[in-house]
Amino acid sequence: MSGVSVGPGGVADAGEILTVQRAAYVAEAQRYADPLLPPLTETLDEVRAVLAGPTIVLVARAGHRLVGSVRARVAGDTAHVGRLAIAPDQQGRGIGSRLLAAVESACTGRVARLELFTGAESADNLRFYARHGYRIVGHRPDPNGVRLAVLEKSLVSPARSGP
Ligand SMILES: CC(C)(COP(=O)(O)OP(=O)(O)OC[C@H]1O[C@@H](n2cnc3c(N)ncnc32)[C@H](O)[C@@H]1OP(=O)(O)O)[C@@H](O)C(=O)NCCC(=O)NCCS
Repeated sequence: MSGVSVGPGGVADAGEILTVQRAAYVAEAQRYADPLLPPLTETLDEVRAVLAGPTIVLVARAGHRLVGSVRARVAGDTAHVGRLAIAPDQQGRGIGSRLLAAVESACTGRVARLELFTGAESADNLRFYARHGYRIVGHRPDPNGVRLAVLEKSLVSPARSGP
């Protein structure tokens, strides 16, 4: 992972973000036999609109190449993290972990909890998020009926008990 930098994404990154996102989510589409997963049907204009704000968008770059991205939308006391995507040939090298940690840092102090979802049958992803402190709090279907696991992580330190 040496030579990979993480920082804010801008509107000019929309094309590369969409390209990486589509490539990354094909494996999920195949797992669920659903080519219309929302990360695959999102349009370039929709990605541009997200990048225009107020959603936090972070990207990972290896040299000039964009190799990953993640988003977080703050609503009340919750940051909704999503669209974490790493270019297929760069997966398993720690870049996703770095992006997730960076987006958590960007939200710290603004919210009490982070929420995200992934496919309920996506064992690798569930293991990845569990390792990063997320726990499953429920399940729901996505717009196409794919069963999702909803996960959350508290950013509030547990209250100390006793005197
Ligand atoms: C899931 C994802 C973001 C993880 O990022 P990453 O950079 O590959 O992950 P890291 O290298 O930081 O951590 C590795 C861990 O991620 C998990 N993982 C999930 N998918 C993986 C993949 N395709 N390759 C390698 N690790 C993967 C595993 O738990 C792995 O741990 P292990 O080596 O003990 O099995 C990335 O693989 C990806 O973009 N997948 C496709 C899109 C997707 O499913 N996004 C998340 C949906 S909410």
